[in-house]
Amino acid sequence: MAKLYVNSKHQMGHLNPELQGHFSEHLGRCIYEGIYVGENSEIPNTNGMRNDVVAALKEMQIPVLRWPGGCFADEYHWKDGIGPKETRKKMINTHWGGVVEDNSFGTHEFMELCKQLGCKTYINGNVGSGTVQEMSEWVEYMTFDGVSPMADMRAKNGHPDSWKVDYFGVGNENWGCGGNMTPEYYGNLYRHYQTYVRNYKPDSPIFKICCGANVADYFWTKGVLETTHKNNPPGAHGFMDGLSLHYYTVPLVWEKKGQATEFDEELWYRTLNKTLFMEELINNHGAYMDEYDPEKKIAMVVDEWGTWYDVEPGTNPGFLYQQNTMRDALVAGINLNIFNKHCDRVKMANIAQLVNVLQSVILTEGEKMILTPTYHVFNMFKYHQDAELLDSYIETEEIGMGEWKVPNLTESVSLGKDGKIHVTLNNLSVTDSYDIDAVFTETEIKAVEGTILTNKMDAHNTFDNPDIVRPESFDKVEFAGGNVKFTIPACSVLHLAIEV
Ligand code: AHR
Repeated sequence: MAKLYVNSKHQMGHLNPELQGHFSEHLGRCIYEGIYVGENSEIPNTNGMRNDVVAALKEMQIPVLRWPGGCFADEYHWKDGIGPKETRKKMINTHWGGVVEDNSFGTHEFMELCKQLGCKTYINGNVGSGTVQEMSEWVEYMTFDGVSPMADMRAKNGHPDSWKVDYFGVGNENWGCGGNMTPEYYGNLYRHYQTYVRNYKPDSPIFKICCGANVADYFWTKGVLETTHKNNPPGAHGFMDGLSLHYYTVPLVWEKKGQATEFDEELWYRTLNKTLFMEELINNHGAYMDEYDPEKKIAMVVDEWGTWYDVEPGTNPGFLYQQNTMRDALVAGINLNIFNKHCDRVKMANIAQLVNVLQSVILTEGEKMILTPTYHVFNMFKYHQDAELLDSYIETEEIGMGEWKVPNLTESVSLGKDGKIHVTLNNLSVTDSYDIDAVFTETEIKAVEGTILTNKMDAHNTFDNPDIVRPESFDKVEFAGGNVKFTIPACSVLHLAIEV
């Protein structure tokens, strides 16, 4: 019997809703078809946004959405995406399949989408091929309320009121697709560009995000921090509120990543082992950040994470369309628990990507839409949003195959806004269930409600069978005093809501 210890009285930090954030890029069928179908589409929509997709995302309580990229961001010129649609410039999406981008989804449409979703806005600016003036004017266009050329232009385009930009990324992957820069070069550009990301709304300043590292590129983290922190005025913190990190779970190697639905047990453990590397990355990049920022004023923003497989056979290789199985559910559950446990430094994380690209929560085909196992995990974890992390520890054993070892269980526990204690527990074993005795100190439990997502390791939803993987209620729970006992089945993600 494995013990899960929860110190119900010891709060460890606040869980920002943005730890469950999302990312949408002009890539494949994410924006077009997946979210935006246009006002004249036969697919039911509101101002062009698919009603089914918006409703599902609201149910999941999407807290924040990043846009327009990704690599696309550093080639995006925002003025091409405003004004009458028929006059908007068409461009080539060089990164993603060389298709024509007609710019029919631009700033106004993104803001409309976030309004419908009720989520925060995260705009990623263009450093790679854009100018300081272009970035500065975009911020003015979106957020300035007075008389100015950009505010006037916005009003002429039908939106006299400004919008709120919650987060602004100054470039994306500038070590790679965003300009192949060195950390020193980018660090200096960051200082320069961010100066003109003006705060026109003093009560709700824009949270500025500096481009951080890819995976374990500590050289980048160190170089960017060193450059941005040189000769700072007091309290400047390198002129940033956040530093990003990108880490994708690729089961095999970049050239041949592995299939989304066809894999054996060894590949299951290999994938989960690789996903667990996220914790080491947060610790190591965090240690470099501690050198410059011991008080943890700068947030780590994991604004791209998730599985990356070979595309589904027969689909455009530039569109990154992949299926989503119970393996993805576990990848999501593992990462979301890791982010919770590191909420002292990690303040936002955005899974890639929202619809039809990489580890999506939603897949669409014409008017059909399915929710993936990853969607269900986010929906089960939403109770952690705005909750207080509780001190917890679970006894684990090492399982796996060959060199691909993982702990059998991972967890995180919070005190929710609803006053309940929320436990999210992952069983990483393909074959074994485990008996758990959860001990909550100084707590008298009144009721326990459970929801479980469990199935075969490669189970997934399809457009013909959309409900193969779906959460079910879990009531095989005994409780007395401060103890809860249950058995967690193999290959599952469990949420317990504990009334105290
Ligand atoms: O999410 C797909 C791509 O992955 C993004 O455009 C880029 O930032 C990353 O390399």
